[in-house]
Order: sequence, then structure tokens, then C-alpha cells
Amino acid sequence: MSELIYDRIKDNLATLKMSNTLEIMDNYLEHAIKDKMPALEILDHIFAREADSRRLKSSNTRIQMAGFPYRKTLDDFDFDFQSSIDKNQIMELATMRFVHNQENVVFLGPPGVGKTHLAVSLGIIAASSCFKTYYINCHRLIEQLNKAHYENRLPEKLKTFSKYSVLIIDEIGYLPLDIQGANLFFQLIAKRYEKNTTIFTSNKPFSQWNEIFSDVTIAAAILDRVLHHCNVVNIRGESYRLKERKEHMQATKKVNTLFENE
Ligand SMILES: Nc1ncnc2c1ncn2[C@@H]1O[C@H](COP(=O)(O)OP(=O)(O)OP(=O)(O)O)[C@@H](O)[C@H]1O
Ligand SMILES: [Mg+2]
Repeated sequence: MSELIYDRIKDNLATLKMSNTLEIMDNYLEHAIKDKMPALEILDHIFAREADSRRLKSSNTRIQMAGFPYRKTLDDFDFDFQSSIDKNQIMELATMRFVHNQENVVFLGPPGVGKTHLAVSLGIIAASSCFKTYYINCHRLIEQLNKAHYENRLPEKLKTFSKYSVLIIDEIGYLPLDIQGANLFFQLIAKRYEKNTTIFTSNKPFSQWNEIFSDVTIAAAILDRVLHHCNVVNIRGESYRLKERKEHMQATKKVNTLFENE
């Protein structure tokens, strides 16, 4: 290959931002020529690698932009510890069929049982599978909507939040909402209803959502929309945080006993 053509290919690859091809080209062409590979096969390999690398890059960007509080996956989740969870139900959710069908998911349960962990795990799968995903806790969401309301830019803010294919609203119920907050929450839920998927987590059973939203009518309207197409995961069990604390205390006790017996 003449130097001129080689330089032109490199220039064009840089212009087209085909960084993966630029990186592998020299090595790959050397092998391909030695093995007398057909041109079609060479092109197929180069484009497949470039496309893979772009998919990976955009999936990483989506995960970064999602604002997860931590990155934990379903592989990190100990299903044996939390026996009230039906693993098959979670694995079905992991197929993302519920996102394609614009269904919601609600994780209910006391503190530390894995609600956020499971919501984040599903969020990571969603973000890796091309769905624009965003995580926010309920208190911050209402703060942001309230701020937008007072700055006369509520419609834009609602539009932003309603556009995510998957929105995770964590920790509903830890702090009660006033009427204004409940109203804003309702507007968002109504905007997303049957268009996009929302994943909720709450420490309160649905029967107590009246108390969270301060108003029976608004709470009923919210619940009606949330539950219309919804997968509910009710977790009953011990806190994983408590289990880890107990294990840590037992380990410390063991070490102390060893020192005392020396
Ligand atoms: N079954 C589990 N296997 C492995 N790790 C778990 C499991 N359950 C919870 N954890 C871990 O325990 C910690 C607390 O879990 P998580 O944040 O999901 O709790 P939560 O149900 O959202 O509690 P809260 O209502 O207090 O927010 C996290 O570090 C999480 O990764
Ligand atoms: Mg949580």
C-alpha cells in the first residue's frame, strides 16, 4: 500500500472518528494480508469491531449519566439471603421486557432489604441496553420540581423527567410530601403514564401511601396510574446492613478473644 493511500485512510478514519479501526488497523491488516483474507471478511471484521466499541462507549456514557448512587448488579445480589424474593421474577425483569411494554416496577420493604440495589441493577441493565435511564431519590426529585415551579420552568423540567425511558424514583415515603409536592409528583406520574417505565422503591405499603402524599385523592390518583401496568416486588426480611454489621461484630469479637488468650 502506498504511503499516500495509507495516510489518506488514517486521515479519513480520524475525520469519521473511527478510533477503534485506527487503533487495530495496522495489526489487523498485517494478519489479514498474510492469511489472504477476502476483502469482504476484512471489512466485516473492521466494522463489527468499530460498532461494538461504539456500543460499549455509549452504554458506559448512559450508565455514567444515570446518576446511580452505587453500581451493583444482580450478580452481586445474594438471593439466598432474601428468600421472600422470587428470583425468577427478578430474572424476568432483567430481560427488560417490562421496559419494552412500558410497565412499572415497585419494590416495597423495610430498610436494608435490597430495594435500591435491585432497582439500580435493573437500571444498569436498562442503560446498557440503549434505554435512557435516570436515578433520583424522591426528596431530590420534589426539590427540583419545586425549584422549577418557582422559577417558572416547570413544563421544561417535567418534559426532561418524562423523557427518560426508565426513571428510578427511590425512597418514596421516608419523608412526607406537602400538597404542593404531591401535586408535582402527580403531574410527573401522569406525564409518564403508559409512555415510559418508572421504577419506584418505598418502605411503606400501598395502604400507607395516603400518609406520604398528604391527600387521599392525589394518593389514589397516583396509585391508580402506578399500579395499572405494574410488577410489584414485596420484600420481607432482615436488613442486609444488619447482617453485615453482625458479621463484622462477630469477627471483631473473635480477634479480641484470640488476643486475650495469648
Ligand atoms: N440480598 C443482598 N445481597 C447482597 N447485598 C445486599 C442484599 N441486600 C442488600 N444488600 C446490600 O445492602 C446494602 C443496603 O441495601 P439497599 O441499599 O438496597 O437497601 P434498601 O432496601 O434500599 O434500604 P433503604 O430503605 O434503607 O434505602 C447495599 O449495600 C446493598 O448492596
Ligand atoms: Mg434504598
